[in-house]
Amino acid sequence: MFLKFIRTCFALFLFTLCAAAAHAAGRLPNVVILATGGTIAGTGATSTTTVGYTAAKVGVDDLIKAVPELKQVAHVTGEQVFQIASENMSNEHWLTLAKRVNTLLARPDVDGVVITHGTDTIEETAYFLDLVVKSRKPVVVVGAMRPSTAISADGPINLYNAVLVAGSQEAVGKGVLVVMNDQINAARDVSKTNTTTTDTFKATELGLLGYVVGNQPHFYRASTRKHTVDTEFDVSNLTSLPQVDIAYTYANVGPTAVNALVAAGAKGLIHAGVGDGSLPIKVRPALSAAREKGVIIVRASRVGQGIVARNGEANDDQLDFVVADTLNPQKARILLMLALTKTNDTKEIQRMFYTY
Ligand code: DGL
Repeated sequence: MFLKFIRTCFALFLFTLCAAAAHAAGRLPNVVILATGGTIAGTGATSTTTVGYTAAKVGVDDLIKAVPELKQVAHVTGEQVFQIASENMSNEHWLTLAKRVNTLLARPDVDGVVITHGTDTIEETAYFLDLVVKSRKPVVVVGAMRPSTAISADGPINLYNAVLVAGSQEAVGKGVLVVMNDQINAARDVSKTNTTTTDTFKATELGLLGYVVGNQPHFYRASTRKHTVDTEFDVSNLTSLPQVDIAYTYANVGPTAVNALVAAGAKGLIHAGVGDGSLPIKVRPALSAAREKGVIIVRASRVGQGIVARNGEANDDQLDFVVADTLNPQKARILLMLALTKTNDTKEIQRMFYTY
């Protein structure tokens, strides 16, 4: 028995060595596709159904079979991690996915990972992974705006481009990427900017990182913020994440949402303020009361672009609040959740918002 075990280990070691050598010798990279659902796996009643289809129907093997050209750019294997519409993505899904990605990337025979995902929360999953993946190897999150059954479905070409980038040397060390519509975006700055069109993913002001053109990734910039191997966050031993919620602001808003979220156990609260994160007079007392109860308050903005400046629209030093810098509310929530796994110190948390 022991001899058999030794023989198996030695065979695995040899395979790994060969795979690494093959890759180093310019042979096809080994890319693993982790499928989670979404429109890229969606089906519609007719070939012209581009809304009102069902997401999360097609399995990973069929997604791969639908793009035989993948074999020209990588050795691809697939795993069906979940099969959900991404509006249903949860903290538990994120932890499962992150642990699987880290386990795969720790293997010398895996060169990159692609995650197929619903577009509704791609920007959140991608940023979460950007903060917790512990590898410089490429991780590419990809989706589609048209179901697989539609004429001119964008899924197949998006998947092909994603695998191509995930197997490339150029993408090593660039952080988690979102590749769609022939464009390469950084997880931190990209958002879904249109409800239905295929060009929806943009980093409106901070800009994309590059393109996929002529079967090649072309990078023109890199993120200045820390990610992946340079982050201080580690989810390997976590089974849950601290409860952090978002309170949206608008003209005539009252304290109801803030008070309800705090009463429901929020450990952190993102205030999606108007303008530069302004605090309406009817909400400010509720936020201060929450802070006094130990809830961490982050001032963000519903505007979507620009810096929420510390001590600008509110005296953050006096209120002991944190500001979100350029992170939109949904991404600020992710960073605050991870920050709260390390500290409750608002100075430390503010440092994190200026670092990631
Ligand atoms: N239900 C949405 C989701 O899974 C469909 C949108 C899409 O994947 O493009 O995100």
